[in-house]
Amino acid sequence: MQITEHIAPLKLAIRSLKNSGNSVGLVPTMGALHEGHLSLIRQSIAETGVTVVSIFVNPTQFNEKKDLEKYPRNIKGDLDILQRLLRKNDLVFTPDVPEIYPEEDTRVFDFGHLDKNMEGVFRKGHFNGVAQVVSKLFDIITPDKAYFGEKDYQQLAIITLLVNQQNYPVEIVPCPIVREADGLAMSSRNQRLSTREREEAAVIYQTLSQAIHKAKHLGVDEVKRWVMDTLNDCKLLQVEYFEIVDGSQLKPVKSWSEKGKKIGCIAVWAGKIRLIDNITFQE
Ligand code: PAJ
Repeated sequence: MQITEHIAPLKLAIRSLKNSGNSVGLVPTMGALHEGHLSLIRQSIAETGVTVVSIFVNPTQFNEKKDLEKYPRNIKGDLDILQRLLRKNDLVFTPDVPEIYPEEDTRVFDFGHLDKNMEGVFRKGHFNGVAQVVSKLFDIITPDKAYFGEKDYQQLAIITLLVNQQNYPVEIVPCPIVREADGLAMSSRNQRLSTREREEAAVIYQTLSQAIHKAKHLGVDEVKRWVMDTLNDCKLLQVEYFEIVDGSQLKPVKSWSEKGKKIGCIAVWAGKIRLIDNITFQE
Protein backbone atom coordinates (compact mmCIF):
# COMPACT_ATOMS: atom_id res chain seq x y z
CA MET A 1 0.00 0.00 0.00
CA GLN A 2 1.04 3.59 -0.46
CA ILE A 3 0.48 6.17 2.28
CA THR A 4 0.14 9.88 1.55
CA GLU A 5 -0.71 12.92 3.63
CA HIS A 6 -1.00 15.20 0.63
CA ILE A 7 -3.65 15.77 -2.02
CA ALA A 8 -1.38 16.38 -5.04
CA PRO A 9 0.50 13.03 -5.00
CA LEU A 10 -2.73 11.20 -4.14
CA LYS A 11 -4.45 12.67 -7.21
CA LEU A 12 -1.48 11.76 -9.41
CA ALA A 13 -1.45 8.17 -8.15
CA ILE A 14 -5.20 7.83 -8.67
CA ARG A 15 -5.07 9.31 -12.16
CA SER A 16 -2.38 6.85 -13.21
CA LEU A 17 -4.23 3.86 -11.66
CA LYS A 18 -7.46 4.93 -13.38
CA ASN A 19 -5.62 5.32 -16.69
CA SER A 20 -4.50 1.72 -16.45
CA GLY A 21 -8.13 0.66 -16.16
CA ASN A 22 -8.71 0.39 -12.42
CA SER A 23 -11.99 1.32 -10.77
CA VAL A 24 -11.59 3.16 -7.46
CA GLY A 25 -13.33 2.36 -4.16
CA LEU A 26 -13.26 4.87 -1.30
CA VAL A 27 -13.67 4.00 2.38
CA PRO A 28 -13.76 7.22 4.45
CA THR A 29 -12.94 6.72 8.15
CA MET A 30 -11.88 8.65 11.21
CA GLY A 31 -9.42 5.91 12.18
CA ALA A 32 -9.16 3.86 15.40
CA LEU A 33 -10.02 1.06 12.99
CA HIS A 34 -12.08 -1.94 14.06
CA GLU A 35 -13.82 -4.85 12.33
CA GLY A 36 -16.70 -2.56 11.27
CA HIS A 37 -14.29 -0.45 9.21
CA LEU A 38 -12.46 -3.52 7.96
CA SER A 39 -15.68 -5.04 6.61
CA LEU A 40 -16.14 -1.94 4.42
CA ILE A 41 -12.53 -2.15 3.26
CA ARG A 42 -12.85 -5.87 2.44
CA GLN A 43 -15.96 -5.18 0.38
CA SER A 44 -14.19 -2.41 -1.52
CA ILE A 45 -11.20 -4.69 -2.18
CA ALA A 46 -13.58 -7.35 -3.52
CA GLU A 47 -15.43 -4.95 -5.82
CA THR A 48 -12.89 -2.42 -7.13
CA GLY A 49 -9.40 -2.35 -8.65
CA VAL A 50 -7.97 0.13 -6.16
CA THR A 51 -9.13 0.93 -2.66
CA VAL A 52 -8.45 4.28 -1.02
CA VAL A 53 -8.88 4.37 2.76
CA SER A 54 -8.95 7.87 4.25
CA ILE A 55 -8.17 8.44 7.91
CA PHE A 56 -9.12 11.92 9.04
CA VAL A 57 -10.72 13.02 12.30
CA ASN A 58 -12.86 15.73 10.76
CA PRO A 59 -13.14 18.68 13.16
CA THR A 60 -16.13 20.27 11.42
CA GLN A 61 -18.47 17.38 12.29
CA PHE A 62 -17.85 17.54 16.04
CA ASN A 63 -20.31 19.75 17.84
CA GLU A 64 -18.53 19.18 21.20
CA LYS A 65 -14.91 20.34 21.50
CA LYS A 66 -14.28 17.74 24.25
CA ASP A 67 -15.55 14.93 22.01
CA LEU A 68 -13.12 15.98 19.27
CA GLU A 69 -10.21 16.16 21.73
CA LYS A 70 -11.02 12.77 23.22
CA TYR A 71 -11.77 11.00 19.95
CA PRO A 72 -9.51 7.89 19.88
CA ARG A 73 -6.51 8.23 17.56
CA ASN A 74 -4.13 5.37 16.79
CA ILE A 75 -2.55 6.05 13.42
CA LYS A 76 0.32 3.59 13.94
CA GLY A 77 -2.00 0.75 14.90
CA ASP A 78 -4.30 1.64 11.98
CA LEU A 79 -1.44 1.54 9.47
CA ASP A 80 -0.31 -1.85 10.83
CA ILE A 81 -3.81 -3.25 10.30
CA LEU A 82 -4.06 -1.74 6.81
CA GLN A 83 -0.62 -3.04 5.85
CA ARG A 84 -1.93 -6.57 6.37
CA LEU A 85 -5.22 -5.98 4.55
CA LEU A 86 -4.46 -3.74 1.57
CA ARG A 87 -2.81 -4.66 -1.71
CA LYS A 88 0.22 -3.10 -3.41
CA ASN A 89 -1.73 -0.50 -5.40
CA ASP A 90 -4.16 0.47 -2.64
CA LEU A 91 -3.79 3.88 -1.04
CA VAL A 92 -4.10 5.32 2.45
CA PHE A 93 -4.81 9.03 2.72
CA THR A 94 -3.91 10.58 6.09
CA PRO A 95 -4.20 14.36 5.67
CA ASP A 96 -3.88 16.89 8.47
CA VAL A 97 -6.50 19.58 9.05
CA PRO A 98 -4.87 22.36 6.92
CA GLU A 99 -4.55 19.93 3.98
CA ILE A 100 -8.34 19.42 3.93
CA TYR A 101 -9.31 22.88 5.19
CA PRO A 102 -6.69 25.40 3.98
CA GLU A 103 -9.46 27.92 4.58
CA GLU A 104 -12.54 27.75 6.75
CA ASP A 105 -15.24 25.71 5.01
CA THR A 106 -18.29 27.97 5.02
CA ARG A 107 -20.46 25.76 2.81
CA VAL A 108 -23.94 25.11 4.14
CA PHE A 109 -25.80 22.05 2.85
CA ASP A 110 -29.55 21.60 2.83
CA PHE A 111 -30.77 18.08 3.55
CA GLY A 112 -34.46 18.99 3.73
CA HIS A 113 -36.16 17.00 6.47
CA LEU A 114 -33.41 14.33 6.61
CA ASP A 115 -31.44 16.11 9.33
CA LYS A 116 -34.42 17.48 11.23
CA ASN A 117 -34.66 14.55 13.66
CA MET A 118 -32.42 12.14 15.61
CA GLU A 119 -28.67 12.92 15.13
CA GLY A 120 -29.56 16.10 13.24
CA VAL A 121 -31.31 17.49 16.32
CA PHE A 122 -28.98 16.25 19.05
CA ARG A 123 -25.73 16.96 17.15
CA LYS A 124 -26.42 20.33 15.55
CA GLY A 125 -24.22 20.97 12.51
CA HIS A 126 -22.85 17.42 12.58
CA PHE A 127 -24.13 16.39 9.15
CA ASN A 128 -23.08 19.68 7.57
CA GLY A 129 -19.53 18.86 8.70
CA VAL A 130 -19.83 15.29 7.41
CA ALA A 131 -21.01 16.60 4.02
CA GLN A 132 -18.13 19.12 3.93
CA VAL A 133 -15.48 16.46 4.36
CA VAL A 134 -17.14 13.73 2.28
CA SER A 135 -17.73 16.10 -0.66
CA LYS A 136 -14.06 17.12 -0.52
CA LEU A 137 -13.01 13.46 -0.47
CA PHE A 138 -15.25 12.77 -3.47
CA ASP A 139 -13.71 15.73 -5.34
CA ILE A 140 -10.14 14.70 -4.53
CA ILE A 141 -10.46 10.93 -5.02
CA THR A 142 -13.24 10.73 -7.67
CA PRO A 143 -14.22 7.21 -6.56
CA ASP A 144 -16.47 4.92 -8.60
CA LYS A 145 -17.86 3.44 -5.39
CA ALA A 146 -17.84 4.66 -1.79
CA TYR A 147 -18.59 2.41 1.18
CA PHE A 148 -20.60 3.51 4.23
CA GLY A 149 -21.83 1.51 7.22
CA GLU A 150 -25.50 1.09 8.08
CA LYS A 151 -24.51 1.62 11.70
CA ASP A 152 -24.69 5.37 10.93
CA TYR A 153 -28.01 5.02 9.18
CA GLN A 154 -28.90 8.71 9.02
CA GLN A 155 -25.40 9.54 7.74
CA LEU A 156 -25.85 6.98 4.96
CA ALA A 157 -29.20 8.53 3.98
CA ILE A 158 -27.67 12.02 3.96
CA ILE A 159 -24.65 10.99 1.87
CA THR A 160 -27.01 9.32 -0.61
CA LEU A 161 -28.97 12.58 -0.85
CA LEU A 162 -25.74 14.61 -1.21
CA VAL A 163 -24.68 12.42 -4.15
CA ASN A 164 -28.07 12.87 -5.81
CA GLN A 165 -28.15 16.63 -5.13
CA GLN A 166 -24.64 17.23 -6.52
CA ASN A 167 -24.73 14.55 -9.26
CA TYR A 168 -21.53 12.90 -8.03
CA PRO A 169 -20.74 9.99 -10.37
CA VAL A 170 -20.25 7.63 -7.44
CA GLU A 171 -22.21 4.58 -6.26
CA ILE A 172 -22.87 4.57 -2.54
CA VAL A 173 -22.56 1.04 -1.17
CA PRO A 174 -24.32 0.44 2.18
CA CYS A 175 -22.60 -2.15 4.39
CA PRO A 176 -24.21 -4.12 7.26
CA ILE A 177 -23.51 -3.40 10.94
CA VAL A 178 -20.68 -5.45 12.46
CA ARG A 179 -21.22 -6.35 16.13
CA GLU A 180 -19.20 -7.63 19.07
CA ALA A 181 -19.98 -11.18 20.30
CA ASP A 182 -22.52 -9.81 22.81
CA GLY A 183 -24.26 -7.71 20.13
CA LEU A 184 -22.82 -4.25 20.84
CA ALA A 185 -22.32 -2.44 17.52
CA MET A 186 -18.60 -1.94 16.96
CA SER A 187 -17.50 1.67 17.33
CA SER A 188 -14.22 3.50 17.87
CA ARG A 189 -15.90 5.05 20.93
CA ASN A 190 -16.40 1.63 22.60
CA GLN A 191 -12.77 1.65 23.74
CA ARG A 192 -13.57 4.65 25.95
CA LEU A 193 -16.19 2.71 27.96
CA SER A 194 -15.35 1.56 31.50
CA THR A 195 -15.69 -2.17 32.22
CA ARG A 196 -19.13 -1.71 33.77
CA GLU A 197 -20.34 0.65 31.03
CA ARG A 198 -19.12 -1.85 28.43
CA GLU A 199 -21.10 -4.64 30.14
CA GLU A 200 -24.30 -2.59 30.29
CA ALA A 201 -23.87 -1.33 26.72
CA ALA A 202 -24.59 -4.88 25.50
CA VAL A 203 -28.18 -4.39 26.72
CA ILE A 204 -28.75 -1.85 23.91
CA TYR A 205 -28.75 -4.44 21.14
CA GLN A 206 -30.39 -7.09 23.33
CA THR A 207 -33.27 -4.66 23.93
CA LEU A 208 -33.54 -3.70 20.26
CA SER A 209 -33.66 -7.39 19.33
CA GLN A 210 -36.41 -8.07 21.87
CA ALA A 211 -38.31 -5.07 20.55
CA ILE A 212 -38.73 -6.91 17.23
CA HIS A 213 -40.77 -9.55 19.10
CA LYS A 214 -42.68 -6.95 21.11
CA ALA A 215 -43.71 -5.32 17.82
CA LYS A 216 -45.82 -8.39 17.04
CA HIS A 217 -48.35 -7.42 19.70
CA LEU A 218 -47.58 -3.81 20.70
CA GLY A 219 -48.16 -0.59 18.73
CA VAL A 220 -45.30 1.65 17.53
CA ASP A 221 -45.54 4.08 20.46
CA GLU A 222 -45.76 1.23 22.97
CA VAL A 223 -42.64 -0.41 21.55
CA LYS A 224 -40.82 2.93 21.69
CA ARG A 225 -41.83 3.43 25.32
CA TRP A 226 -40.83 -0.16 26.24
CA VAL A 227 -37.34 0.23 24.67
CA MET A 228 -36.70 3.56 26.39
CA ASP A 229 -37.97 2.35 29.79
CA THR A 230 -35.99 -0.91 29.60
CA LEU A 231 -32.73 0.90 28.80
CA ASN A 232 -33.28 3.77 31.22
CA ASP A 233 -33.74 1.15 33.97
CA CYS A 234 -30.07 0.23 33.47
CA LYS A 235 -28.01 2.18 35.95
CA LEU A 236 -25.35 3.50 33.57
CA LEU A 237 -27.49 4.00 30.46
CA GLN A 238 -29.57 7.01 29.45
CA VAL A 239 -31.50 7.05 26.19
CA GLU A 240 -31.20 10.30 24.22
CA TYR A 241 -33.71 9.30 21.55
CA PHE A 242 -35.30 6.21 20.12
CA GLU A 243 -37.23 6.75 16.90
CA ILE A 244 -38.92 4.29 14.58
CA VAL A 245 -38.67 5.78 11.09
CA ASP A 246 -39.19 4.77 7.49
CA GLY A 247 -36.03 3.47 5.83
CA SER A 248 -35.71 6.05 3.04
CA GLN A 249 -37.12 9.40 4.19
CA LEU A 250 -36.47 8.76 7.92
CA LYS A 251 -39.87 10.16 8.84
CA PRO A 252 -41.43 8.83 12.08
CA VAL A 253 -43.64 5.81 11.57
CA LYS A 254 -47.03 5.88 13.31
CA SER A 255 -48.34 2.40 12.59
CA TRP A 256 -46.84 -0.97 11.63
CA SER A 257 -49.33 -1.14 8.76
CA GLU A 258 -47.59 1.72 6.88
CA LYS A 259 -45.81 0.54 3.73
CA GLY A 260 -42.02 0.14 3.40
CA LYS A 261 -38.92 -0.50 5.47
CA LYS A 262 -39.07 0.47 9.15
CA ILE A 263 -36.01 1.01 11.25
CA GLY A 264 -35.51 1.83 14.93
CA CYS A 265 -32.66 4.27 15.51
CA ILE A 266 -31.26 4.91 18.96
CA ALA A 267 -28.70 7.08 20.73
CA VAL A 268 -27.76 6.12 24.28
CA TRP A 269 -25.36 7.64 26.76
CA ALA A 270 -23.26 5.05 28.60
CA GLY A 271 -21.74 7.30 31.23
CA LYS A 272 -20.06 10.07 29.21
CA ILE A 273 -19.88 8.06 25.98
CA ARG A 274 -22.56 8.43 23.37
CA LEU A 275 -23.42 5.28 21.42
CA ILE A 276 -25.72 4.86 18.41
CA ASP A 277 -27.29 1.76 16.91
CA ASN A 278 -30.28 0.72 14.83
CA ILE A 279 -32.37 -2.30 14.00
CA THR A 280 -34.70 -3.15 11.12
CA PHE A 281 -38.31 -3.84 12.15
CA GLN A 282 -39.67 -4.49 8.67
CA GLU A 283 -37.74 -4.88 5.41
P1 PAJ B 1 -16.20 6.47 11.33
O1 PAJ B 1 -17.05 6.55 12.55
O2 PAJ B 1 -14.74 6.18 11.48
O3 PAJ B 1 -16.82 5.36 10.40
C1 PAJ B 1 -16.31 5.13 9.11
C2 PAJ B 1 -17.28 4.22 8.38
O4 PAJ B 1 -17.35 2.96 9.07
C3 PAJ B 1 -18.71 4.78 8.36
O5 PAJ B 1 -19.29 4.57 7.08
C4 PAJ B 1 -19.41 3.97 9.44
O6 PAJ B 1 -20.81 3.84 9.24
C5 PAJ B 1 -18.70 2.63 9.30
N1 PAJ B 1 -18.84 1.85 10.53
C6 PAJ B 1 -18.49 2.22 11.78
N2 PAJ B 1 -18.81 1.25 12.68
C7 PAJ B 1 -19.38 0.25 11.97
C8 PAJ B 1 -19.91 -1.03 12.30
N3 PAJ B 1 -19.95 -1.47 13.55
N4 PAJ B 1 -20.41 -1.80 11.31
C9 PAJ B 1 -20.41 -1.35 10.02
N5 PAJ B 1 -19.89 -0.16 9.63
C10 PAJ B 1 -19.39 0.62 10.60
O7 PAJ B 1 -18.53 7.76 9.97
C11 PAJ B 1 -17.47 8.38 10.03
O8 PAJ B 1 -16.30 7.83 10.49
C12 PAJ B 1 -17.33 9.82 9.54
O9 PAJ B 1 -18.54 10.50 9.75
C13 PAJ B 1 -16.88 9.93 8.06
C14 PAJ B 1 -17.92 9.31 7.11
C15 PAJ B 1 -15.51 9.25 7.86
C16 PAJ B 1 -16.75 11.43 7.68
O10 PAJ B 1 -15.83 12.06 8.51
